[in-house]
Amino acid sequence: MKSWKVALLPALANTRLTVALDNGVGLKPHMGWSSWNVAQCNAASARYALATADKFISLGLKDLGYEYINIDDCWSTKSRDSSGRLVPDPAKWPNGIKAVTDRIHSMGLKFGLYGCAGDKTCAGYPGNEGHERGDVDQLVSWGVDFWKYDNCYTPCRQNPRPQTCTSPAGSTKTWYAPMRDAILGVQNTKKLHFNLCNWGRDEVWTWGASYGHSWRMSVDNWGDWASVERIGSAAAGIYQYSAPGGFNDLDMLYLGSSKLNTNQEKLHFGLWAITKSPLVLGLDLEKISNSTLDIIRNKGLIDINQDSLGKAATTFRPPGAPAPVNGKIYPYWAGPLSDGVVVGLCAGTSAGTYSVNFKDVPGLGGSGSYEWREMYTGQTGKGTSASFNIGLHDMRVIKVMKV
Ligand code: GAL
Repeated sequence: MKSWKVALLPALANTRLTVALDNGVGLKPHMGWSSWNVAQCNAASARYALATADKFISLGLKDLGYEYINIDDCWSTKSRDSSGRLVPDPAKWPNGIKAVTDRIHSMGLKFGLYGCAGDKTCAGYPGNEGHERGDVDQLVSWGVDFWKYDNCYTPCRQNPRPQTCTSPAGSTKTWYAPMRDAILGVQNTKKLHFNLCNWGRDEVWTWGASYGHSWRMSVDNWGDWASVERIGSAAAGIYQYSAPGGFNDLDMLYLGSSKLNTNQEKLHFGLWAITKSPLVLGLDLEKISNSTLDIIRNKGLIDINQDSLGKAATTFRPPGAPAPVNGKIYPYWAGPLSDGVVVGLCAGTSAGTYSVNFKDVPGLGGSGSYEWREMYTGQTGKGTSASFNIGLHDMRVIKVMKV
């Protein structure tokens, strides 16, 4: 993993490679839900997919932009059929997959599935290695819109291949390329969103945009505060690689479990939103609390995440502010929006008063007066600075516009 460093120049030109999988998909960070953190293998079923789609409508999530219902590992049987095809587990998909995608499409939503670049998925189901084009044809025939591609049981110097290889036999690029090419091969019939899940290996952010539309930049979010710190802090150093068509994926939003308190959930959601991560809910919508619901339905934050500019916020160091600490969430973040600048203030290590002079914010410099609005409290103000009392692990996110 690339070492964490503070990026002080958010105005730097985008240094990303050309987008090769430029099929019009993924121009904004994708929003949706994934089965994995809900009940792992047990949630990879039609029942969960359809119940979640209903909740997207009844909870107003679809209207806010949540779109993809993504089924993760364990949706197939443990072996391919005699023709080498993947078989949806009949106990989980009694009417097959197409019946589910048809229903989800009829609701104006999209459907995602999960595969793996190795010979098995992480949970030991058939992988896609050597079957790439045939499997993509199958996805297309089912109407699948999104394909998450994992990195277990991939080529490895250890024999037999372990689930998670510590001594890879080559770059992950090598085994993600055949699937990228298979997806390119069906472009005229289906524009799939390709989500690379190689856990940030081989500095995927430097090449992910030429392979897919989003890429996991770290190992999993385990749902605890340490994961939010580890992943959130690492996002600062790779902000420049996110742009329309390809985004750093900070992993699923692990809200709604008992592992984070409300402040921590707010910082988790706010930081993922301003760094332009996909916003993929990893929770059971049948059991969501009102306080978590308020956070995931924050329209101001969603609008910032979905801003057409698609530029990620990163850290900046105002005069007199302490130096960043590796692996900890730095207090001051900013990033450009199509109609202003977003500033994030994070009480990642201590509660207190956090202030910002707008002249110190990259993208706002110079003289002038500003108007601002805070997304969690609804507070608004005018002037040249803003100041907030922030509880431990909480966050404030302000949108600032020059007047
Ligand atoms: C991991 C991946 C998780 C989940 C899991 C399924 O490798 O990072 O997001 O997909 O596999 O087994």
